[in-house]
Formats: sequence, C-alpha cells, structure tokens
Amino acid sequence: MSKVWSPDSWRSMPIRQVPTYPDDAKLNSVEGELRNLPPLVFAGEARRLKKQLGDVAKGKAFLLQGGDCAESFAEFHADKIRDTFRVLLQMSVALTFAASCPVVKVGRIAGQYAKPRSSDMETKDGISLPSYRGDIINGIDFNEKSRIPDPKRMLKAYAQSSSTLNLLRAFAQGGYANLKKVHQWNLDFIGTGAAVERYQDMADRIDEAVSFMEACGIDVNSAALNGTDFYTSHEALLLSYEEALTRVDSTTGDWYDTSGHMLWIGDRTRILGEGHVEFFRGIGNPLGLKVGPTTDLDELIKIIDLLNPEDEAGRITLICRMGANIIEDKLPRVIKRLKEEGRTVVWSSDPMHGNTITASNGFKTRPFNDVLTEIRRFFRINRSMGTYAGGVHFEMTGQDVTECTGGAEAITDEKLGDRYRTHCDPRLNASQSLELAFLIAEGLKEERDERAKELKAATSS
Ligand code: PEP
Ligand code: CO
Repeated sequence: MSKVWSPDSWRSMPIRQVPTYPDDAKLNSVEGELRNLPPLVFAGEARRLKKQLGDVAKGKAFLLQGGDCAESFAEFHADKIRDTFRVLLQMSVALTFAASCPVVKVGRIAGQYAKPRSSDMETKDGISLPSYRGDIINGIDFNEKSRIPDPKRMLKAYAQSSSTLNLLRAFAQGGYANLKKVHQWNLDFIGTGAAVERYQDMADRIDEAVSFMEACGIDVNSAALNGTDFYTSHEALLLSYEEALTRVDSTTGDWYDTSGHMLWIGDRTRILGEGHVEFFRGIGNPLGLKVGPTTDLDELIKIIDLLNPEDEAGRITLICRMGANIIEDKLPRVIKRLKEEGRTVVWSSDPMHGNTITASNGFKTRPFNDVLTEIRRFFRINRSMGTYAGGVHFEMTGQDVTECTGGAEAITDEKLGDRYRTHCDPRLNASQSLELAFLIAEGLKEERDERAKELKAATSS
C-alpha cells in the first residue's frame, strides 16, 4: 500500500472487476471531460450523512438503503425514479414509527451502473462473449459489438445520474415527501389485499399520531414534515469514473468522491493491497463494505483500520450478505471479532445477495421468505450479542415486476416471466418491499417493547 494517497494512486495497484478499454486515447479523453463536469453531490451533504450514520452506529437511528441492482439506460424514466423514491418513503414511515427513531434514507440510485461479475465470459448457445458489466461499461445485448467496453458510456451514466439526482432533490424537498401523503399511500396499500390486513393496526396508530400532531398545532406542511433528507449511493466499482469525480472540498481541503453521498465496496473487490481499498481510503464519504460468508476477518480488520483509523462513527457500514441458511453460522464470528477489536460500525443486513437461486424455469430469483428469514436472524443474532442491528439494504423497485418469488401476491416460478425486467439481480417489487418493511417494523416494535420492559424491570428492582 503506497503511503501517499492521491485520487489516482489506485492505478499502481492490482485491481479486478474493471474493464480493459480497447482505445486508451478515447478513455483519456472521456476521463478528461468528466473531470471538468460539476460534482453531483456536495461534500457537506456526504458529511451530514456520515453524521447521521454515526447516530445509527450508536443505536439512535435506523438505516434504510435500497434501489435497483443495476440502473440502466433503457429503463431510465421519471416515473421509475418517482416510484422507487415513493416506496422507500412509504417503507421509512412504517420503520420510523416502529423503531421510534429517525430513518436515514439512502437510495441505490443516481450512479448504480457498474456490476461485478462472477464470470468474465457469458456463454449462450455455444457462443462465448464478455459478460455484461453494467450500462456504464458495456451493453446488455448479447452480441460482440455491444459487449465491447465503451468509455463514452461513462458520460451518459453521469448525465443520467445528474438528472435522477435533480428529480430526487425536487421530490425530497418540494412537498412530494409530505408525511400525511406518504401515510395515505400506505393506507391505500393496506386496503388492496386481505393478506396485508394485519398491518392495519399499525397504520391506525400512525393515523392517530398524525391527527394528534395536528391537534397540537404542529403543521404537517412545515418543513420538517413536508420534506426529507434523501441520499444516494452506489458500488464504486469503475474507478476511472470515480476518480474523475473526486474533488477537493473547498471548505475542509479534504477529498470527496462527488459521484454519490455514500459509496460501497463489493464483496469481490474488498481486498487489502488492491485498487478499490486504496481508492476508498482517501475519500471522506461514508463507506460501505459488503461482508460475505467467506470474508477473512484479519483482512477485514486491517481494511477497517486503513479506511477508518480514527474509528469515526458513521464512516463504515458493514453490509452483511450471508444467506438465510448460513447467517447463524457466519455472522456471529464477524460480530464477535469486531466487538473484541472495539471497532465502531453500522451493522446492516443485505438479505438479497446470499439468497439468489435459479428457479425451475431458469430465472434467477430470490424467495421472499428467505429474504425475510435472513433479516429476522440478523436482528436476533445482533440482539443476542448485544450489538445494534442498525440497517437494511435491499434490491428493490417501485415497479410491479415479477422477479422475486413469494410475498402476499404469492409470485410463483411460473409467473416470473410475466414482468422480469432487471438488468442484473432480481428485485423486490413495490408491494413485496412494503410488506417487508411492515414485517420488519413489527419486529422492531416488539424489540422496542421488550427493551422498555427490561429497562423497567431493571429500574424497579
Ligand atoms: C450488489 O450489491 O449488487 C452486489 C454485487 O453485491 P455483492 O458485492 O455483495 O455481491
Ligand atoms: Co445485485
């Protein structure tokens, strides 16, 4: 690891999962163009998010992170951005009520275009071509031309991220996120089906809380209830792009990657001595580290120390993605080690990436129940080990897709083909996402009640 960090110091290290572009001159020219484009986010915003994640690390807030597995050029549309934003808001209202604490909302959006792949090549009908690596790198169409990495795609991803972010900012602050409105959407959702009637009780109590606030003279159109903070995040995989958007913050003199508020390193590139870890250590943004079942704990601790030498709360979120069947075997040792070393992190659960299976008809899918089971186990393990399960990380969309099986609508293997639209991994659809949020909310509420009971018993004894 070189001692002196610069936005391009990753270039002298080994690296994986990044493309080899066929034309260096074209790549250099695109990188130069990107370097002159305005930042997408402001460093002050990234610092605010880091502070709010610090509250999550201390058990005073909850993190909700979600969005597409991969954003795409073809699916880019205002309605899709609006619908994903809307479902995240709906989920957050249920979670805020249940957890009785602020919910920090972070989209996998406005930059989530690059994908790590388990195989370099894809073979169909005897023909092998380079794998699709996300729209920022190459095309999904299975032909030779489309699979050649094209640097110009970075400019399109930037432009699309920029207009996505612009719309999100407008929605977040322009009145769309009004609490009463979001609550009404939840009531409408509950009114749609028998299987979700059990959430009526919680919705009624939120109703009462909103009416009570109004009766007390709290204006539900006041800035606090009419707008919200909404942050962006993506896997910072394509370092040519990330480097070009890394700028010195004029107010602190520190470097920030201005392509998104929070950035994470995937399970396949979280490697000590390689380019991705090197790049991450120099930027001031809050960082996520995916933690899978094969994670080497000595290496993980060294990486955490390198990325967060001052042990700043909110700097590191460990996004655990184990799999429902093995989380009980794999997660406790990670928590135990972090506790022994005394490192401060946000514990978040990604119940998607360890639960991907291939359905009988060939579709890559994730059973709703496995997703739920992994989350429930994640909460239970943290509780039994005395750590705070502070967040969840979903691949989801506001659209009515059929990519994950199960849920109240009971999507079967046979129905997967109806509206299977993801560019990469299967996402929860709008109602599956909401259902999950209500189920998690129930769990959070029980936990809160239990904690209160314990506290009461302790003080009265
Ligand atoms: C992802 O979040 O889309 C992803 C590829 O995750 P992981 O690195 O955990 O496999
Ligand atoms: Co994914």
